[in-house]
Amino acid sequence: MSRRSRSPEHLPRPQKRQKLDNLTSESFKNGVFLAPMVRSGALPTRLFALKHGATMVWSPEIVDKAILHSKREVDPVTGVVSYNGVSRAIFTTHPIEKPHLIYQIGSANPELAVQAARTVMQDVSGIDLNCGCPKPFSTHSGMGAALLTDPDTLCAILTALRKAMPEEITVSAKIRLLPSQEETLKLVERICGTGISCLTVHCRTRNMRDREKAMVERLREIVEFVEGLGKGIAVVENGDCQGWEDAKRVRTVTGAHSVMIARAAEANPTCFSDKPLVDLDKTLVPSYFRLSKYLDNYWGLTKFCVAQFKGDRVNTKKADSTKIRQTLSQSKGYDAMTDYVGEWTGEDEMKQIIDAIETDPPRLRRMYLPASASVSASASTNGAVTKPVLANENSAAATVFSLEDDAAYATPQSTQNPEPPSSGAPFLPKDFQSKDPLPPKADPLTPTPTVSV
Ligand SMILES: Cc1cc2nc3c(=O)[nH]c(=O)nc-3n(C[C@H](O)[C@H](O)[C@H](O)COP(=O)(O)O)c2cc1C
Repeated sequence: MSRRSRSPEHLPRPQKRQKLDNLTSESFKNGVFLAPMVRSGALPTRLFALKHGATMVWSPEIVDKAILHSKREVDPVTGVVSYNGVSRAIFTTHPIEKPHLIYQIGSANPELAVQAARTVMQDVSGIDLNCGCPKPFSTHSGMGAALLTDPDTLCAILTALRKAMPEEITVSAKIRLLPSQEETLKLVERICGTGISCLTVHCRTRNMRDREKAMVERLREIVEFVEGLGKGIAVVENGDCQGWEDAKRVRTVTGAHSVMIARAAEANPTCFSDKPLVDLDKTLVPSYFRLSKYLDNYWGLTKFCVAQFKGDRVNTKKADSTKIRQTLSQSKGYDAMTDYVGEWTGEDEMKQIIDAIETDPPRLRRMYLPASASVSASASTNGAVTKPVLANENSAAATVFSLEDDAAYATPQSTQNPEPPSSGAPFLPKDFQSKDPLPPKADPLTPTPTVSV
């Protein structure tokens, strides 16, 4: 990996970081998080999300074996830590995000998961296990959503991680719903027995497309069930949240401790703010290029992420955006964007991010809902959860939306094809021979397999 040399006077000013306590399950409560997203959850996107209101950020899923064979290098000027694979970085991070960063592992093997976690643990605050990716590249070797129907392996991985990680590193899991609520609760109970601090529930089943409405109405019973276990584990809702304001709706409807956002943040990483940036082509995009160049972010990745941005247009014309997008699609490197962005080093952009994170440490940001906005869910005799009602219809949260209105449950307009793409990153060296090959598993995608837990 070649990095541009920079003179010492370009060093960012010495960082006076506020000391933050280690993460606990409480740290995962009352927050709004950036979801793990292969490719779209790149380092510059995570830093902009933290600058603009995200409480914590998840790394993209990285398969256990991929990181084991990487080489850790630190850029002495920018501080960027790169885990380099054969041809490019598999994972990059910056120390400024460490207190707020959860690293997501793709694994089907407790030993490999532990080795992967040990490889990166000095640079992250928590380890998350992906138990929800429905794509064949993940499920074919028993990873991702395949773990939902293999609870023994799923729980063995979480237990091994908890045992191997020092106390200051949290262990968490991200799952999808199972077809029935009963089997979901059984699985959740087992997962909660492994010592995790946080459980994220993507409120769709494995076979649901992301354009289908997330079944957020099923989450309240799960939250109450986890709270009933008395372990203090945080339950995070994921699915269809559009941003900071919308997270209030999601939390009020579901009772979830926190909310995690993927596609809306992919389209606008500043959606975590109560005032997200608009006119992105004039605001976020130039800053994103500057920061990405400074961090030496792989150009193809920067280009991909910028191509996903879609914010509200207030003072810009569609024709201007089209021109910028055309330039971007034909560009082969940062220099091609100079006419649009101007001459830049990106150092100022990084300083602003560091200032923002140090002045207002993301993890300490809290979304407290008014107590009067608490909801009571009623379960029907067949176990189906009916719509909750607001305890006080005059509460502040009630002014945001009305639960009488189906809009509270509606999937907001989807932006683009939400299927996680393959990162294209070289997961393994070409000559890699596993001593402990993962067993191939049958992976029928339809119908969704049921599970006996
Ligand atoms: C581009 C993209 C990449 C994703 N990569 C991951 C991933 O690496 N790990 C994971 O657990 N989920 C991944 N997901 C799923 C999201 O984290 C999230 O569960 C899903 O998009 C639903 O949330 P949303 O409605 O806010 O988009 C990805 C989604 C997208 C759109």
